[in-house]
Amino acid sequence: MDDGTLHIHRIGASAGAEITGVDLSNDLSNDQFAVIHQALLDHHVLCFPDQELSPEDQIAFARRWGDLAIHPNLTGMNDFPEIIAVERKPGDSGHLGSEWHNDTTSLEKPPMGTMMYSKIVPQVGGDTLFANQYDAYDALSNGMKDMLDGLSAVHGDGRVAGPRAALNERRTNKTDESDAWRETINTHPVVRTHPETGRKALYVNIAYTLRFENMTTEESQPLLNFLYEHSHRPEFTYRHRWSENMLVLWDNRALVHLALNDCPTSHRLMERIQIKGDRPF
Ligand code: SIN
Repeated sequence: MDDGTLHIHRIGASAGAEITGVDLSNDLSNDQFAVIHQALLDHHVLCFPDQELSPEDQIAFARRWGDLAIHPNLTGMNDFPEIIAVERKPGDSGHLGSEWHNDTTSLEKPPMGTMMYSKIVPQVGGDTLFANQYDAYDALSNGMKDMLDGLSAVHGDGRVAGPRAALNERRTNKTDESDAWRETINTHPVVRTHPETGRKALYVNIAYTLRFENMTTEESQPLLNFLYEHSHRPEFTYRHRWSENMLVLWDNRALVHLALNDCPTSHRLMERIQIKGDRPF
C-alpha cells in the first residue's frame, strides 16, 4: 500500500521491514523521523523501495541519525568522502563484505548503522543476508550466556585490509593494502547491550574478531567458531533481495550481515554510508 501515508510492513520473521509512503529526498518531519527511528529499533533492517536519491539526499537522511563515519580502509567517492561506491564488476571473483560481520568492529566506536542505496542490481544474485544477534544471544543456554557475559574479545582489521588481506586482485573495491598500513585493534564485550533498546546481542564476527581478551588465538578459536556458526543459524536470518533505487538501513548493534558472493558475471553498484556509533558496552 502506498497512499502517501508512512506505512511499515514487516518482511522477515527475524528482521526486516519495508517502509513506503515517504520520500527520502524531502526533509522528514520530526514525527516522521521518530516513527522511522522506532522502526529501526523494532525491525533492525529497514528497506525503502523506489527512492530517487542524489548523494546529497542520502547524506542528509544519514545525518538525521548522527555524524557520518569516514571509512578507515576504503576511499569514498569524489566530492563525497562519506559515501563508498560498493561495486562488483563482471569477472570479479570477490566482493566487499562477503563474510559475516558487523561493520568495522576494529574501531573503538564502530558505526551504529549503515545505509546502502542500490544503483545497479544483478538480474539474479547479489542479495544481502542479515542475522539477528539478539535472537542469537537469547537462544544460548544460561551457562553459555553467563560465561560470555564476562568476556571481551579483541577485534582487528587485518583480514579486510593491509598486505595480509590480499583481496584487491579479486575485486573492484580496493582496500588499503600498502606496506605503510597498520592494523587498528580494539577490545569489545562479547555480548553488547544495545544503547537504545537495552537488549543484549552477541557481538563477535568472523571478519574482525581475533581472539578473546587474555587468551591465545588457539585457546579462543574453538569457542569463536561455535559462536560464528551459531550467530547465523537460518532461523535468525533475513535475506534481502534488492531492486534498483532502494535504500536499506541496518543496525550494526543488533545484526551481522554479509554480501552474497554469487554473481560473478554481473555488475552490482551500491552507494554506502556509515553512521558513527558509541563505544560498545
Ligand atoms: C557491506 O558489508 O557493507 C556490503 C553489503 C553488501 O554489499 O550487500
